[in-house]
Amino acid sequence: MRLGKHSLLVASGQAAITVALLGILKAGDHFLSAPSLYEGSKTLFRENFARFGIEVEFVDDPHDIEDWRRRVRPNTRAVYGETIPNPKNDLIDIGQIAAFARDEGLPFVIDSTASTPYLIRPLDHGASIVVHSASKFLSGHGASLAGVVIDGGSFDWAAYPDKFPQFSTPIGGPGTPTLVEKFGNTAYLEYTRTIIAGRLGPVLSPLNAFLLQQGLETLSLRVGQHSRNALTVARWLDAQPEVESVDYPGLPSNPSYAIARTYYPRGAGSVFGFTLRGGIRDARTLIDSLELFSRMSHLGDVRSLMLHPGTTSHAHLSAEERDRLGIFPGLVRLSVGIEDENDLVADLEQAFAAVRATNAGTAQAHVAALDEAELPLSA
Ligand SMILES: Cc1ncc(COP(=O)(O)O)c(C=O)c1O
Repeated sequence: MRLGKHSLLVASGQAAITVALLGILKAGDHFLSAPSLYEGSKTLFRENFARFGIEVEFVDDPHDIEDWRRRVRPNTRAVYGETIPNPKNDLIDIGQIAAFARDEGLPFVIDSTASTPYLIRPLDHGASIVVHSASKFLSGHGASLAGVVIDGGSFDWAAYPDKFPQFSTPIGGPGTPTLVEKFGNTAYLEYTRTIIAGRLGPVLSPLNAFLLQQGLETLSLRVGQHSRNALTVARWLDAQPEVESVDYPGLPSNPSYAIARTYYPRGAGSVFGFTLRGGIRDARTLIDSLELFSRMSHLGDVRSLMLHPGTTSHAHLSAEERDRLGIFPGLVRLSVGIEDENDLVADLEQAFAAVRATNAGTAQAHVAALDEAELPLSA
């Protein structure tokens, strides 16, 4: 097991992602990313980083290493991905991408928010740096914001002084040591902590640090239960005629099942989407009818949550872009909590009954309207 060498707590997950990458990248640099990411990270990279002169490029097919390789440029400086991207749960092969990044002399930064160290330790599979939003599962209570950057200490920054001059240039002027001379392979975290986070200032408040610690103590119990519940809910949804597809990699029919078995033996996470055949109409009825699931854009909470991505997290995209990403009008995202699984299924059962009743009512009203429309003809 590879433990992180050094870590940095910051004020939010967004802050963790931002400082983790700004510790590596500067204006004029380019980095490669897996295509399926938290929408907040995508807009951060596309819009905010672009204004800093940092260019992100998303690969089309993260499983095709040649697709990554042919996009590497002389100014490419990092590779980025997520463990369990939501809502589609289209898993990447972390070991394969880490090997590619190593070959190219690039650090591999991975967001492990949706998996937590209970389900996977990306450093064991070759990732260089791991980031988490600690506002989600790590806390579990949704009562605080926090983020963390973990340096595996395995990337050899000293081997690439031209690519990463910040670590190999004397810090206090000529004659003073460089960060790699002073800190070896943890030069990155020192730089990110003092020069990036220390100056930009996304400091974690003491109260939020305390709240995070309260949550962390029960992480293993919670994430185990989240994962068991999620599998039960995913199997139940998969058996409903109104459901077109369930994006849960713990189901054998899911395209990510093989990766889930290899990398996530303790459970395939608990934040996933499913698509209703009846589109937005069914999604609306379902969301309005669920009682135990709260309507919330948050995830990784002990309470079960639901969201309609098409009209919330992904509403800023065009309909074509949403279709391309599989964010269809009937897609509902769940973050399955740690309640009793029977209560979760009972809630889903009554909400699906409401969908059926609404559809039957609509069909009856439609027939009645047709009958009425025909009256004058037959009179
Ligand atoms: C995968 C992932 N990373 C990062 C973040 C950002 O975290 P925070 O809300 O703590 O800024 C989120 C938020 O939903 C997320 O889902």
